[in-house]
Amino acid sequence: MMRIVFHEKSKTFHLYNDSVSYIMAILKNGHLGQVYFGKRIRDREDFSHFIETCERPMTSCVYEDDRTFSLEHIRQEYPVFGTTDYRHPAVEARQENGSRILDFQYESHAIVAGKPKLSGLPATYAQTPEEARTLIVTLEDSLTKLRLELFYTIFAEGGALARSARICNGGERPVWLERAMSLSLDLPDCDYVWQQLSGCWARERQIRSRALTQGVQSIGSMRGNSSHEHNPFVALKRPSADERQGEVIGISLIYSGNFQIQAETDAHDTVRILAGIDPETFQWKLESEECFQTPEAVLVYTDRGLNHMSQTFHRLYQRRLARGYWRDRPRPILINNWEATYFDFTEERLLEIAAKAKECGVELFVLDDGWFGNRSGEKAGLGDWTANRERLPHGIAGLAERVEALGMKFGLWFEPEMVNKDSDFYRRHPDWILATPGRGQSHGRFQYVLDFSRKETVDAIYEQMAKILREAKVSYIKWDMNRSVTECYSGAWPADRQGEIYHRYMLGVYALYERLTAEFPQVLFESCASGGGRFDPGMLYYAPQGWVSDNSDAVERLKIQYGTSMCYPISSMGAHVSVVPNHQVFRNTPLHTRANVAYFGTFGYELDLNQLTPRELEEVKGQIAFMKKYREILQFGRFYRLQSPFDGNEAAWMAVSEDQKTALVGWYRILNCVNGKYTRLRLEGLNPDFCYRNQRNGTRHYGDELMCAGLIASDETAGQIPAGVKPHTDFESRIYVLEVDET
Ligand code: DGJ
Repeated sequence: MMRIVFHEKSKTFHLYNDSVSYIMAILKNGHLGQVYFGKRIRDREDFSHFIETCERPMTSCVYEDDRTFSLEHIRQEYPVFGTTDYRHPAVEARQENGSRILDFQYESHAIVAGKPKLSGLPATYAQTPEEARTLIVTLEDSLTKLRLELFYTIFAEGGALARSARICNGGERPVWLERAMSLSLDLPDCDYVWQQLSGCWARERQIRSRALTQGVQSIGSMRGNSSHEHNPFVALKRPSADERQGEVIGISLIYSGNFQIQAETDAHDTVRILAGIDPETFQWKLESEECFQTPEAVLVYTDRGLNHMSQTFHRLYQRRLARGYWRDRPRPILINNWEATYFDFTEERLLEIAAKAKECGVELFVLDDGWFGNRSGEKAGLGDWTANRERLPHGIAGLAERVEALGMKFGLWFEPEMVNKDSDFYRRHPDWILATPGRGQSHGRFQYVLDFSRKETVDAIYEQMAKILREAKVSYIKWDMNRSVTECYSGAWPADRQGEIYHRYMLGVYALYERLTAEFPQVLFESCASGGGRFDPGMLYYAPQGWVSDNSDAVERLKIQYGTSMCYPISSMGAHVSVVPNHQVFRNTPLHTRANVAYFGTFGYELDLNQLTPRELEEVKGQIAFMKKYREILQFGRFYRLQSPFDGNEAAWMAVSEDQKTALVGWYRILNCVNGKYTRLRLEGLNPDFCYRNQRNGTRHYGDELMCAGLIASDETAGQIPAGVKPHTDFESRIYVLEVDET
């Protein structure tokens, strides 16, 4: 159930479903005011008592005869700067005379079933008109004739709301947008803890928290990708809220380029949240009749804690952001040759790796970097997407055939957005890279960023990729992006449009993804950017899974995957078992722990299984059989975080099947300890009345018992080691399978 009501008399909009209410009203000056966002409240004709105005000292006022009406003190939906509001605005447009003042007044609104598409941009969608309703409020600035359309979609299910804005120039003269955020949300108080996902290469999406306080707090990226450093996601939780209970607001931006999410707390403890394209690196010229569409932002409200916020994002992003053939399908277990060979391989060597993997039950062989052009290292070849015949004498089609003949699917790595200067592509089109005239060109890993704001560049890369996909049996593509953008200037655009290039670049990336996914709908795409440098909802629209991090160490992955789960579903997280000593942190973790972490992801191997002992191979076969049996639940079940690896020596999480008959609990301990503590995991999401059988030891427990008293996970080797029991070491872990006992 969801409704959007407009109360004529009080000029109030109320969007609600069973979980949330979002209320706005047209203010006295014609602007759109924010009234309430939170737990669903009963609808009524008038909520204007929530629009607080009072005469305050030192306040600039809109009207001479009303000293209570100041935009500085009124909560708004899409505020502008310079007419009594001194906080950061949602939109700014420089006009020909140099002024940036705007005055968007209500003109009309429409309520439509379903959800309109966002042209050229990734966004959530409704599969049927009954799943969602959308309110479009149109406002106009009468002087410039700029038209502002604010989109609000409420879904029938869950506490999520999607927002975006479209700005059209109905005037005769051009204007330059200096910022156009996806959402602005004014909250009445600042009693929140702000949680962000921050890090760097190989240490992505670590949970960091701080209380909101007066001033500006923000995260963002100016790297041309959403970045390893900050993820376009923030949670605001009440100080007393935790994973299981309490009020939380989640803010997520469906975008893969430069972004900003900001909280500005004013002197009166009200908060303005802004989320959208980073204003610093953005400018957009709007000629007469041209429009600009912002990316979409999603707001989630819950009073059931952080985990429930995450589950709301997981459900929405898994089912109504990700698309296509693979959206709802358990993902193939893959083997990737990168950490096994790096650039040093031949066709025969690859086939040896594939054959052993097949023997163990792996379903997909992925050939990573190094198969094309003159690529024997980092310095050459990017841009030339044809097989290197010295390494692959039968080309990609031939190799794919041979892999298929083994009974496996074949997957291939690309880095479509980049060139090396030592490549035929660059020699043919030296002006198709982003570069500022007269300036040096910085490189990252000896590569340069192609100018994807030019259609001809995107077309040329598309042709090369499509040719391979047409000729060879390629079932999977890993789309990598291994450097950030610098000297962001395009020779294809005039001076007064250079502020558009970062965003036009992203539109080019999205356009290429769109063409390829439309033409090859059964190919599974996995996004990647030096690990998790572009792990964001924008990518999820095209690629239903992404490589979470280049750090494949099981212990490091606990934090990375735990943090990632704040917003992203398990089905989106590329997670592999790799060799020890691990190639990033040189740690030795047991094989079972490496798998126990990777099970909570799309699961695969990043090593040469030929190097394993017969015993280890048997273990791997068991892992693969286990994953095949339970991957549907692990990837698509309800996910619960039980114990945070950020808080101590142990971590735990679990997934529960839709019918609540099966649950898989992962428990992990970083360092071993002697005579250690008793461990109980209080489980979640079970049916209290179901009796579950613990497959590990055969004990039977009712759901209520497991959720209230807990699952005993104490280490039987923590004190004296019982006879016949193998002592545990550091990096121990266990998976508990709980299945309803129907007997
Ligand atoms: C970075 C990726 O994250 C790795 O998995 C691998 O594909 C390399 N690039 C290849 O260059």
